[in-house]
Amino acid sequence: MDDKKLRSHEWFGRKGKDGIIYRAWMKKSGIPAHEFDGRPVIGICNTWSELTPCNSHFRDLAEHVKKGVYEAGGFPVEFPVMSLGETLLKPTAMLYRNLASMDTEESIRANPLDGVVLLCGCDKTTPSLVMGACSVDLPTIVVSGGPMLTGKYRGKSISTSDVWRFSDAYRAGEIDDQEMSIAEAGICRSDGHCAVMGTASTMACMVESLGLSLPGNAAIPAPDAARKVLAHHSGSEIVKMVQEDRKLSDILTREAFENAIMVNAAIGGSTNFVIHLLAIAGRIGVDLAIEDFDELSNGIPLLANLQPSGDYFMEDFYYAGGLPAIMKELLPHLHKECMTVNGKTVEENFDEAECYDENIISGMEKPFNEMSGVVVLKGNLTENGAVLKPNAATKSLLKHTGKAVVFEDIDDYKAKINDPDLEIDENSIMVLKNVGPKGYPGMPEVGNMGLPPKLLEKGIKDMVRISDGRMSGTGFGTVVLHVSPESAEGGTLSIVQNGDEIILDVEKRLLQLNVSDKEIEERKKNREATHEELPRGYVQLYQKHVQGAHLGADLDFLRGGSGSYVPKDSH
Ligand code: FES
Repeated sequence: MDDKKLRSHEWFGRKGKDGIIYRAWMKKSGIPAHEFDGRPVIGICNTWSELTPCNSHFRDLAEHVKKGVYEAGGFPVEFPVMSLGETLLKPTAMLYRNLASMDTEESIRANPLDGVVLLCGCDKTTPSLVMGACSVDLPTIVVSGGPMLTGKYRGKSISTSDVWRFSDAYRAGEIDDQEMSIAEAGICRSDGHCAVMGTASTMACMVESLGLSLPGNAAIPAPDAARKVLAHHSGSEIVKMVQEDRKLSDILTREAFENAIMVNAAIGGSTNFVIHLLAIAGRIGVDLAIEDFDELSNGIPLLANLQPSGDYFMEDFYYAGGLPAIMKELLPHLHKECMTVNGKTVEENFDEAECYDENIISGMEKPFNEMSGVVVLKGNLTENGAVLKPNAATKSLLKHTGKAVVFEDIDDYKAKINDPDLEIDENSIMVLKNVGPKGYPGMPEVGNMGLPPKLLEKGIKDMVRISDGRMSGTGFGTVVLHVSPESAEGGTLSIVQNGDEIILDVEKRLLQLNVSDKEIEERKKNREATHEELPRGYVQLYQKHVQGAHLGADLDFLRGGSGSYVPKDSH
């Protein structure tokens, strides 16, 4: 490619006053004149933050990317974007996913960049950066931060998924404060994101299966030297991608999305995958519908024995062959010809991959579960669709009819759940309203609400739960999520009452409120608005423009892209 055509030339290749301004301020960091000779300028988009503990090692990771960029003849420049830490951000990191994507999009387009490396780790940092980058469509590669080492507690392997088990045990009086403190110290033992097939690991697998990262990216633990080597190679690769003009839209075809959906089924990925992939497809202009997730997962069994639904951890997954071993096993089903960031096809990248431990990664002929992926439910309770992860659910509850126990919002749930007089038994269906995108606002991960202590004490571990919210990728249970239209928009969910009968039939893909159409209509007419619209700021913008979960919960005006045009000068 002719260097003169690079975007960065519009800044650093300029003569006169403008060129002096563009170069002189950069030179104050000790950058020599030859860096401005027309070589590819590579942005390293960094979500490092001490408030995002999963990404706290990213400054070091960026240095390894830079080495690779220099080695290949590029000029690296690192820049920050809004970082979304899942554990600390209130009310939920999901509220800010679209905001971070705007930051990413505008930061890339407004700067003298020819290619971008996205450093992603904690749950929302991956989709937000990929969404933003898609709306610009420059050559882009993703480097994930990698999972944490496996947690340890009194000689046992644990992970962030055990937060729910520890918390239930605490509520049931099985462990005290001191024991809890010991457990807490063993959950997160190193740099990296949650060490199970939760949302962050699912997102890392998503980018690898889409072809947006180098092979092997998903599972290498954060502290492993191989993670640094992968960052180094990614730095070299992005320079080549710029030289060969390999853009996101060349990689993110409909077929690449189909591959990602099949791979997600095989790994038993998080339900959050659905919402983020839909949003990414919306940005790059690929026609993807919620029903595609069910159809494409159909017939793909569970090939990874990983927590939260299985036995092992991401570290084990890496030693067993990681995502390449799964991709190799799935090759007969995948679109093998899809192009990836390194210029090779899916088949070329994964055909030689090997599995080193069949207890962790199985073959198609002997899967860990015949049923995997995401099931999309429809019915009068969710006309636009809701999702359920069958391999995280209790088999006997996949066909269940029960009476609704309704919580009007999360505060109502918190106020009632510990009440010994709450009228609920193990056959009841717990219904939580107003935790959708508009209603909460931000669609938090509260869908797998904890069971009432009086049932926990009886040894009940799972019940059918329904909401318009999400569930953490580290969560589990027979949990119907993302009900759309959401309660705050007047969906049928909003008029469910205590004692109403609800039918869940996963085989028939049905979620039905056993109340007549006339009665539903009547209740909807008399329904009062339940959520508060905030008067200003980003949250107001979000509530006005956020789309339903079945469309990816992106802001309506952010769908699509504006390309990588060079904005006009200001000097
Ligand atoms: Fe960051 Fe789980 S909290 S990945």
